[in-house]
Amino acid sequence: MVIADKEFIINNQPFHGRDMLTLVDYTKDEITYLLDLADYLKDQKKQGIVFEPLKGKTLGMIFEKSSTRTRVSFEAGIYQLGGTGIFLSSKDIQIGRGETVADTAQVLSGYLDGIMIRTFSQETVKELAKHASIPVINGLTDTYHPCQVLADLQTVREIKGSLSGVKMAYIGDGNNMVHSLMLGAALMGMEFVVAAPKGYHPDVEITYKAKQLAEEHGAKISVTEDPQEAVKGANVIYTDVWASMGQEDEQEKREIAFEGYQVNEELLSLASSDVIFMHCLPAHRGEEVTANVIDGTHSVVFQQAENRLHAQKALMTALMGK
Ligand code: CP
Ligand code: NVA
Repeated sequence: MVIADKEFIINNQPFHGRDMLTLVDYTKDEITYLLDLADYLKDQKKQGIVFEPLKGKTLGMIFEKSSTRTRVSFEAGIYQLGGTGIFLSSKDIQIGRGETVADTAQVLSGYLDGIMIRTFSQETVKELAKHASIPVINGLTDTYHPCQVLADLQTVREIKGSLSGVKMAYIGDGNNMVHSLMLGAALMGMEFVVAAPKGYHPDVEITYKAKQLAEEHGAKISVTEDPQEAVKGANVIYTDVWASMGQEDEQEKREIAFEGYQVNEELLSLASSDVIFMHCLPAHRGEEVTANVIDGTHSVVFQQAENRLHAQKALMTALMGK
């Protein structure tokens, strides 16, 4: 789909009012549209062109976990689109004192034009979306992180020129990032391999779903325990922390389990010569990645972090525009 002009973006709205709970709520063409729109908005911003399709609109942002990128990119993003963001820490709103998600959803629907939520259970996000009459965006759960992957796909596409056929090797924990990356890769026709130790593989049902999608879209999904094998021919190496938010108590146990799964120069040297290194951040240098890799010439982590802004502006424009 070509982004013809501003009118096209504002008026041609097959997205209006929809939620983003997982990437597979959308088709390949729709994800491509969002990525095209993200590139367009990035370009407009770089040229200093003001574009405010969400003037007068308000996004509520519920956080039950910490955040730097998600909070700031959504808040800056809605502001740049002409709207306003309200940060709602679960410590301060009544949800933290037991008000139901269903009641919260209905109350907030009366005030806002969209809700972004970062929480623990995917069920909470589903419950919120079920009772809200406005779009709900998943800003990370224990199971998924779709907004991060939208930005990641934008980043890979802008560097590699396309997504189909690109090989991404993910090394480390089979967590929320892997689940969303796996679905995104399957949908977009990529080759995606996860190397994770026993006991830390991605969810079996999500892997099955990704493999089914992969068959439909000419993609390839696989899981191995061998990082050296996984990175062979890889154009992208991706990793994430070994202990995610909520797993802080398992830090020591995980450091032992993930020994041998560090992304370092030796592992990088086994990949394709055009390999880029990606990490959703925050990173723990010396654990899942060495400082010389994340701060080295193959790393695109800050471009990736910046694209959170552009990808989410595209998402908000599509879902919350008129
Ligand atoms: N990558 C990411 O979602 O970062 P934050 O936890 O800082 O939002
Ligand atoms: N897997 C990490 C991602 C942080 C953006 C976590 O859930 O903490």
